[in-house]
Amino acid sequence: MNAPATTGAVIHPAEGVLGGRVRVPGDKSISHRMAILAAVARGTSRISGYSPARDCASTLDVLRALGVLIDLHDGAPVIEGGGWDGLRPPDEPLDCGRSGTTMRLMAGILAGVDARATLTGEDQLLRRPMNRIADPLRQMGADVETTDGHAPITIRGGVLRGITYSLPVASAQVKSAVLLAGLRASGQTTVVENTPTRDHTERLLGWLGAAVRKDGTAIIISAADLNSFDAEVPGDLSSAAPLLGAAAMIPGSEVVVDGVGLNPTRDSFLRLLARMGAEVEIEPADQTGPEPVGTVRVTHAGLRGITVEADEVAGVIDELPLLAAMATGADGPTEVRGAGELRVKESDRIRGVVNGLRAIGADAEELPDGFAVSGPSPLRGGSVNAVEDHRLAMAFAVAGLRASGPVTVRGMESVDDSFPGFVATLESLR
Ligand code: S3P
Repeated sequence: MNAPATTGAVIHPAEGVLGGRVRVPGDKSISHRMAILAAVARGTSRISGYSPARDCASTLDVLRALGVLIDLHDGAPVIEGGGWDGLRPPDEPLDCGRSGTTMRLMAGILAGVDARATLTGEDQLLRRPMNRIADPLRQMGADVETTDGHAPITIRGGVLRGITYSLPVASAQVKSAVLLAGLRASGQTTVVENTPTRDHTERLLGWLGAAVRKDGTAIIISAADLNSFDAEVPGDLSSAAPLLGAAAMIPGSEVVVDGVGLNPTRDSFLRLLARMGAEVEIEPADQTGPEPVGTVRVTHAGLRGITVEADEVAGVIDELPLLAAMATGADGPTEVRGAGELRVKESDRIRGVVNGLRAIGADAEELPDGFAVSGPSPLRGGSVNAVEDHRLAMAFAVAGLRASGPVTVRGMESVDDSFPGFVATLESLR
């Protein structure tokens, strides 16, 4: 199944200040993980604040196809986990839609289940690299067949052994696939990551009482059965980012986002905003679940260009297209290196963001592993192509606010992959 034909949304110049106090949809990464672990836990779990993103619906669909009973109560999944043995062999290939996280995390789960299952999805997902999960899962003992290193992937799970795996790419999805398989492996499973990536999986597992610990750059896990849980997903900082970024860029603006996740492996965008010169205020709230949460207030101040170092990239990977858009309005050059992973996201985000920003007048250049933007450059109205990539669509919408004429963002409907209602929320700030 593929996405409907591309339509556009018109973003008009800001023409005044932006302001408001908003909430954003639940964190996508945390939603996937909570649903997946609830499915293999024993008992009834309730997840409030679950992301309404299409990607997270794909995870629920895949779990249902494996026989897991899931009801939605006002959008909050109530999941009847039957333990690992509760998953039954699927009748058909499991459709992950466009969600790389669904596919890679579920591969880790299926590696430890005595069944044969095929993971597939839309064309966009079939283009993304999958050897990165197939290799370690094979080393653990699963039978994994890819299609030339891509999906469809067929997994025959079974008896797994713990391994020590040093991540060849900084990827939380790969780390998580190995850790989830480690829940079913004999002995210890160790993942070594030289660059820290988002740690939602190990946090949630620790909160649920699994034997998982950190030792320097290593994360070590042993087999565990999990009990059901009730949890609340914090707002997605990656969805708050375009709203906060817009406030930082448009003179006189101030935007507050409440109830947003403040996990230190995810909040680099806020640090970079402050480095660019914006005023960033963070007010932590009481933490009741596995993740820190709070309120973020961003106030405009003249932005300056920055250099993002390679070791900072993993903490801001999903916000880099947005940073490029903001850099068009900053004083001086902005350069990002060491971000080659951007080329294998929902699209080649280096090419996509540079092409889109140039189409409306930006001075931007592709680098093999990043981009360079010279600011400030006046942006004119026009048409840009988000190539069905939600992060590009949101970045172009933010760029459109500082253009001299309307910007039509083709492929804007892809924002539903992470932030349904994005355009309405952005418009509410005018
Ligand atoms: C995610 C990890 C990142 C990120 C993606 C979500 C996750 O991908 O880009 O949006 O939930 O683990 P990689 O692990 O491939 O870097």
